[in-house]
Amino acid sequence: MKNLRLTGERLITGAGALNALGGLEFTRALLITGGSSMFRNGTIHRAEALLSPHGTVEVYHGISANPSCEDVEDGLAVMRRFAPDLVIAIGGGSAIDAAKAMLLFYEWPSLNFDNVFHSTLPQKRSKTTFVAVPSTSGTASEVTHVTVITFSEQQNKLAIKTEALRPDIAILDGDLCMSLPAHIAAETGMDALTHAIECFTNRSKETFTDLLAAGAISGILQWLPQSVLQATPESRQKMHEYSCMAGMAFSNAGLGMVHGISHAFSAHYNTAHGLANAVILPYVLDYNRQDPWVAAELDRLSRMTGGDIVAQVRALSAQVGIPTCLRDCGIAEADFQRDEATLIAGSMLGSTAVNPIPMTPETIAPIVRAAYYGS
Ligand SMILES: [Fe+2]
Repeated sequence: MKNLRLTGERLITGAGALNALGGLEFTRALLITGGSSMFRNGTIHRAEALLSPHGTVEVYHGISANPSCEDVEDGLAVMRRFAPDLVIAIGGGSAIDAAKAMLLFYEWPSLNFDNVFHSTLPQKRSKTTFVAVPSTSGTASEVTHVTVITFSEQQNKLAIKTEALRPDIAILDGDLCMSLPAHIAAETGMDALTHAIECFTNRSKETFTDLLAAGAISGILQWLPQSVLQATPESRQKMHEYSCMAGMAFSNAGLGMVHGISHAFSAHYNTAHGLANAVILPYVLDYNRQDPWVAAELDRLSRMTGGDIVAQVRALSAQVGIPTCLRDCGIAEADFQRDEATLIAGSMLGSTAVNPIPMTPETIAPIVRAAYYGS
């Protein structure tokens, strides 16, 4: 039996969907965002204007690209002081993920980073309504029950999962993505493709997640080049929706070792999550294809999408400017050689546990090396 959850209470989508903020009821709203991009393109100003007739609004900004425990602690202090009943995370997956962890510790003060992995986590928030408004099309954090936080001391990224983290309302407004630089559109779009393909090759999938993943893969193959190279409004909205669809799929069926390996590299070198996934994905597919079930599923996917899927992934990566190996992503060879053992150990954590072929440090090591050196 499967208990599927695809979204929170509502999913609002389409150009101009941000205006839905004007219909929310609240007393104190905290807007959480990352760097300055949402200020520069006027989104935060628009959100404040939509919200302020209905209650008190405060903005908190400054979440890192790979949100750390310190980012969460800093924002949590603001949240505890301001005591919001509405939290709106606007920005990339980092801002939404950081807001999720803040909300967990805000609603349940006995939880913290020391005990969160050893505690039975609560399922339902009661103090706050949580709205997620993504400005990138990759993580699908707007519909998932997952937050990924960087633990600097351990040099790794770990996921916290509980239903209490799933946003109540997801707003997919492609207008927010129009100022997204091409390389960010490429990396985040390849992250979404990785979610969909890892889900499609995960043995836990069933009919619904299989079709959501397949739909997302087809849609991303069709629309990502236009989103990156021409940045048309239609392509940016489509990528928003297909990325979200991939999230609905993977948050129910799981991922695989692409994410396990990429989290280790991102935690060591701050490599952008989508970039690392994009580089690692074809190496993992080549490896996993030795499994007969994976091979049959990839063949079925190839027939659906009109060509060998692994070749299509490599061609799409090349078209949108993704390097073919991690050595070409700014990671010096001396650093890789120094860190190799801890990278391999880190790659065994997280989603590697649900890879369709069970992995060991010995079997994952050649894949880590191949993804780094490109052979
Ligand atoms: Fe991802």
